[in-house]
Amino acid sequence: MTLELSLNQQPAHARQGSSIGQPLTRRDGFLKVTGAARYAADNHPPGMLYAVLAVSSIARGRVAALDIEAAKAHQGVVEVMTPKNRPALAADPDAKDHPFMFRLDLLQNDQVRYPNQSIAVVIAETLEAATEGAALLSPRYEVLPARVGLDGAESFVPRGVGVGGPAVQHKGDVEAGLKSAKTRIEATYETPAQYHNAMEPHAIVVAWDGDTLSIDTPSQGLAMAQGRIAGLFGIAPENVHIRSPFLGGGFGSKGMISGPQVLGILAARLVGRPVKLVLRREQMYGPVGHRAPTRQTLRMGMDGEGRLTALDHHAKTASSTFDDFFEPAADASHTLYASPAIATSHDAVRLDTGTPLFMRAPGEATGSIALESAIDEAAHACGMDPLEFRLRNYAEVEPMTGKPFSSKALRECYRQAAETFGWASRPLQPRLMRDADGFLTGWGMGTATFPALMFQAEARAVLRADGSGLMETGAQDMGQGAWTAFAQIAADGLGLDIDQVDFRAGSSDLPNAGIAGGSGHTATAGMAIHNAGAAVIARLADLATGNEASPLFGAGNEGVLARGGHLYRRDDESRGESYAEILKRAGLTEIEGHGKGAPDPASQETYAKHAHGAVFAEVKVDPDFGQIRVTRLVGAFAAGRVINPRLVRSQYYGGMIWGVSFALHEEAITDRRSGRIQNANLAEYHVPVNADVPSVEALLVHEDDPHVNALGIKGVGEIGITGTAGAVANAVWHATGVRPRRFPIRIEDLLGEEWSA
Ligand code: MOS
Repeated sequence: MTLELSLNQQPAHARQGSSIGQPLTRRDGFLKVTGAARYAADNHPPGMLYAVLAVSSIARGRVAALDIEAAKAHQGVVEVMTPKNRPALAADPDAKDHPFMFRLDLLQNDQVRYPNQSIAVVIAETLEAATEGAALLSPRYEVLPARVGLDGAESFVPRGVGVGGPAVQHKGDVEAGLKSAKTRIEATYETPAQYHNAMEPHAIVVAWDGDTLSIDTPSQGLAMAQGRIAGLFGIAPENVHIRSPFLGGGFGSKGMISGPQVLGILAARLVGRPVKLVLRREQMYGPVGHRAPTRQTLRMGMDGEGRLTALDHHAKTASSTFDDFFEPAADASHTLYASPAIATSHDAVRLDTGTPLFMRAPGEATGSIALESAIDEAAHACGMDPLEFRLRNYAEVEPMTGKPFSSKALRECYRQAAETFGWASRPLQPRLMRDADGFLTGWGMGTATFPALMFQAEARAVLRADGSGLMETGAQDMGQGAWTAFAQIAADGLGLDIDQVDFRAGSSDLPNAGIAGGSGHTATAGMAIHNAGAAVIARLADLATGNEASPLFGAGNEGVLARGGHLYRRDDESRGESYAEILKRAGLTEIEGHGKGAPDPASQETYAKHAHGAVFAEVKVDPDFGQIRVTRLVGAFAAGRVINPRLVRSQYYGGMIWGVSFALHEEAITDRRSGRIQNANLAEYHVPVNADVPSVEALLVHEDDPHVNALGIKGVGEIGITGTAGAVANAVWHATGVRPRRFPIRIEDLLGEEWSA
């Protein structure tokens, strides 16, 4: 197998010393902008057929009839896969062995559980023939009424939310706290269903060779995908070879293998030839996850000094009728603001929808927009500046657990972002600022926070006789720049210049790098890389310090340091020798070392670990038409050690733009009669285009958190959304005097009674 990307090619920057901390450009950037990067759907193995899904146009019921004959009679159509002829599976796709095994629709029967569910697969010689064949199936349905909306079914308290956290949690007495308060607010906010809409649709190119599978498909978690596929087909995981060198975005929708991807594998099995299956955009609105809608009610009480006496955050959400994923929106109130009493609770309904899943900052994004709006409302109810109010309620320890956490850094984020933005000149009251064109101008802020998570990963390091190095881990780059950042960690771990290190990733044949999700990939796989480097250097040091012919003889493993392809004595850096000399004398062509990355349980027990930030937003609102434009965003973020400031800043920009998207653009609209999504396309499902993106500035605040991991790495992928969405909403209030209650904020929500008042 040849990997498309090796980090030996075209070193963009010559540099000396530490690779970590350098603003290197993306090593895959050249391949991407020249079109040389091969994405999954770009593969065409010999003899390949095209598979196209036929999907349900109803939300609930059963498929009564399909015109399979018509489809099969169409020129070029090779086969139609339905529940009747679908190859057998070794495991029930409705089985759930653990909470992260999500149920898949793999043509197990004629039931329809949500719109856009797969009901057949047409396989043909050309994409056109397969597409036309799928249209000829003309399904007839027995339709049942769709259960739609947060009031569309009976609510219940789920057993767990998010990754299995309790649905209901509290500390202190919230009711007593509210009663004793001088000022109280209560507010309800609604957030819509959102869909990931990664630029690259889910795609799979698959070839069977006996019991061995060769797969090209985008995946945020190769080992998990490999395990799930192996289980479904009853084959050994090592017989499943998945290549995922490039992902055109994932945002959580490629975290676990989806039903359509497995249908591609089944189709190849059925016809005995390689098959390509690519989802059309509208087919991504159902079987690959989404962000669940929420309705959140916050109650806050404040004393005479503006200190919180109670914080109550309730979130209602929705899941599918057949699986469990519950957006942990209220948990956002666990980690930010100090209050003697905090209560969070969730309830949910089951709707005729695809199962919601993790989507960029799951829980924090939805919860934070409500929490930050409510905090803003509370500040103004107390007659206080929202920044002053946040500092008054600053948490020195994690509010819900009382665990110590890195609190200094957030103060610095507030200070730097406020100063850069010019917050001090903001009038307290709304509707007081207009620009030269007469547009209502408003300034708002939000606090950003996201947990510093780690999962499990492994890496393998090799030093070769020519003095070069190799680092391997099955990591994924979904656009965030992971391959570049990991190569930087690898170079430092091996004591080599980055162009002397061959860094390989993106394949399930490499050591398990865990999941590129939860903003934990750099910390987790990065620590595995770091430790693999240390392991191979330790072996090299053994070879040198144990050999009388080496100038390092007797220095001991601890007594040497690795730098620039040499080992040196710590006590006398004039004494050293090159990796190549050490290996040559030992008669070895290469040596290897292995490393793991994982959270430290003792430290997890003792410390709370979060990244923090503060975001300030300026909006301008047309006084006649209510049209909202974000004109300026300034964010400051503290997220531990920065591996590559250029890539980190870019991650913050992406998050902040997503925050604008959450506040003003994104919404999947469900037809209440049919249960179908009406805007399942990128024309009507709005995401920000360049014209919607304001001036965005992201400040990198230095933070040294010794408790997260040896490298001090936290995540940067998701945090940018969390402060920004609320900041935009609060700026809209400050411009107009109208408090946004549902998202995205609509013109018609502004043009109410308060508007003309
Ligand atoms: Mo994500 S929702 O951490 O891929």
